[in-house]
Amino acid sequence: MQPKQRVLTGITTTGTPHLGNYLGALKPAVVASQQVDMDSFYFLADYHALIKCQDPQTVHRSGREIAAIWLALGLDTDKATFYRQSDIPEIPQLAWFLTCMTAKGMMNRAHAYKASVDENQRQSSVDLDQGISMGLYSYPILMAADILMFNAHHIPVGKDQIQHIEMCRDIAMRFNHTYGEHFVLPEAMVEEGEPKVLSGLDGRKMSKSYGNIIPLFAPADELRKLIFQITTNSLQPGEVKDPQTCTLFEIYSAFASHEETNTMRQAYANGIGWGEMKGQLFEYLNDYLSPARQRYDEIITDPGYIESELQKGAAKARAHSEPFMQRLRSAVGIMSLVGDTGTKHHAAKVKKELNPEAQAKVDAGKAKAMAIAKQRADEDAQQLVMQVDELLKKIATSHNPHAAGEEILEALQVQMNSAKKKAKKSLQQTLELLKQRLSS
Ligand code: TRP
Repeated sequence: MQPKQRVLTGITTTGTPHLGNYLGALKPAVVASQQVDMDSFYFLADYHALIKCQDPQTVHRSGREIAAIWLALGLDTDKATFYRQSDIPEIPQLAWFLTCMTAKGMMNRAHAYKASVDENQRQSSVDLDQGISMGLYSYPILMAADILMFNAHHIPVGKDQIQHIEMCRDIAMRFNHTYGEHFVLPEAMVEEGEPKVLSGLDGRKMSKSYGNIIPLFAPADELRKLIFQITTNSLQPGEVKDPQTCTLFEIYSAFASHEETNTMRQAYANGIGWGEMKGQLFEYLNDYLSPARQRYDEIITDPGYIESELQKGAAKARAHSEPFMQRLRSAVGIMSLVGDTGTKHHAAKVKKELNPEAQAKVDAGKAKAMAIAKQRADEDAQQLVMQVDELLKKIATSHNPHAAGEEILEALQVQMNSAKKKAKKSLQQTLELLKQRLSS
């Protein structure tokens, strides 16, 4: 049987997702996550956020909001792997390996970097690299690490990101050529035909940089206010209007069914007034969005729940990234000088007969070690109880304690399955104690 195809995409956690993001990226991704023949990986690209945003509070808040949006839209986190980039320490490690495989000349050609250089040129700056960080410069490499870490086949992205996927393939090929076949070469998945671009309040493309967006989960009164700000022309009620050049109609038809859209087209021919049209668009969107918005409002006030979902995803992702990184480390020649067997062999050799005095010393040392071990064990036990208390608190305060409990148990189980000996034991203890306390 063919292994499942992997789809992977990242969402930079800056800014507030708007209606255009919803139609272009969020909605299709949530639908794709429900397909059984696809293995989807969606992540919050918070390391990428640092390139654009140096305000810690905004970075932190955006991560929480965007995670809540995905969950509110019904992303199935059991099917998809939904995680936060910064929870996967192997990603920046891989980024370094890839940095050493990337031609500097190729990075000189990256669009985001070139656009900044062009801007400096336009402003006649003496230094064409003014204000450009290494983060911006090597951002396609971090993106390549995101993709290659999970050996994803298909990367749904906007047209502006195609170049980055090509760079990723180039870097992967170079690595494979140097160190052997480790990486799948990914392909960009771009919407066929005209990209669906939604217009904003002023009729230009809806974009944060134009300040013309309608946030996806704006409260009803704000949504109404924004819709009433959408630019129209000076035609009066009763005059025939052209739906094709109208932002109101465009937004309406992006959400409405084919039939509803036709009915609305007729209303334009019959000269519907702008005020009335705006009222109808508001009613329509508000009805469409309010169930998810309500879920969003619940989720956003429950950071414990969001965090537990992200931890569940991180455990699933790390079950793959940890062993894969181990393999890549060996491939480049970074590994322990002695394997396990080597250490044992060495230990056996030093063990020799001791005189009584030396033996007494060893025994004293052993006794001390045992005392320390006992103290550690006590501390560990205490920590275990505290950890479980924390989890219980999280569960009790979530909006659905039963489901939250089940989810946390499952996440622990997944984590445990992939953990190494020592971590496994501690996870197992946590799991058992939590089960016991939940059922008591
Ligand atoms: N650079 C992407 C954007 O700005 C976000 C992103 C980061 C991404 N890592 C990725 C997309 C990996 C796809 C795959 O839209």
